[in-house]
Amino acid sequence: MDSSNIEAVVTTVSDFNAADEPTESTSRHGHLPGTEDAGEGQLGPTGRPMPSFPEPAPLTGHGPARVIAMCNQKGGVGKTTTTINLGAALAEYGRKVLLVDFDPQGALSVGLGIPTHQLDVTVYNLLTERGHDVRDVVQHTKVEGLDVLPANIDLSAAEVQLVGEVAREQILSRVLRPILDDYDVILIDCQPSLGLLTVNALTAAHGVLIPLECEFFAMRGVALLVETIEKIIDRLNPRLEIDGILATMYDGRTLHSREVVASVVEHFGDRVFHTVISRTVKFPDASLAAEPITTYESTHKGAGAYRQLARELIARGGAA
Ligand SMILES: Nc1ncnc2c1ncn2[C@@H]1O[C@H](COP(=O)(O)OP(=O)(O)OP(=O)(O)O)[C@@H](O)[C@H]1O
Ligand SMILES: [Mg+2]
Repeated sequence: MDSSNIEAVVTTVSDFNAADEPTESTSRHGHLPGTEDAGEGQLGPTGRPMPSFPEPAPLTGHGPARVIAMCNQKGGVGKTTTTINLGAALAEYGRKVLLVDFDPQGALSVGLGIPTHQLDVTVYNLLTERGHDVRDVVQHTKVEGLDVLPANIDLSAAEVQLVGEVAREQILSRVLRPILDDYDVILIDCQPSLGLLTVNALTAAHGVLIPLECEFFAMRGVALLVETIEKIIDRLNPRLEIDGILATMYDGRTLHSREVVASVVEHFGDRVFHTVISRTVKFPDASLAAEPITTYESTHKGAGAYRQLARELIARGGAA
């Protein structure tokens, strides 16, 4: 199904205004409440039986890291939230995780309590200047095993500055090389664009994870993103694979959310994660508190969802 068909499907949905509250109409029409907590073997929110995602075995050593770019040029789809919380969940499972803030907005850094405006060196300096040690730029977070390569608004100049560089698409790859063996997973939080920074992220990555918001026009732009990824595979990074599509801001109480997920599964099949991330105000709350949801409210089902995503990613071979 192409994106125009999907838009046609979703615009026929009558109860889309019910996004935040369950309404009588949803239950009256027999639309069951969310199935995002489906147990093994039960039909999950993506309409497929939920496989088991076992507790990952502890690692005996660390590295080399698998690098995953969180990518969607559409803004506000949950890239940063997924980077922080998937990273924190992987760290809880004993993985050593580095998060790379690759957005000049610095939302990832701020969301983990790093005072970005006070930093002398950030990922920007690593990209544009020689002589820095990447380990001096890495910041530890309150979560054990979770580190950050921070960014701030300085990074907005990099795109222009790097244009004239030799092998300008491979600069992040070179920056990360010395620390690949220190980590099991490196997650790169991309900015909402398909510019040179994002191309650098995709060139440095082994995998790409695409968050899609369960909303109107979720698929708009995804064809262009996939086309870009295919070009990168062809010209710059043949090892790159699409690790998965993640449905975010899901509300199982609405037919609308469920139909968007069904369309995405119809289009992408097994590439869609069984795990979906529900819409809850706890995510912005946790960002405000500068913590991952896994520590901010460890028992919240949003924390459980990102733990399940971490287990699913490991079970699929997307992380050690
Ligand atoms: N599952 C969710 N439920 C409710 N709110 C969410 C959820 N995921 C993210 N948000 C909120 O939505 C907003 C956008 O999320 P986020 O910053 O993760 O998206 P993004 O794709 O990184 O955005 P950008 O493209 O601007 O970088 C944030 O305020 C975040 O707290
Ligand atoms: Mg972001």
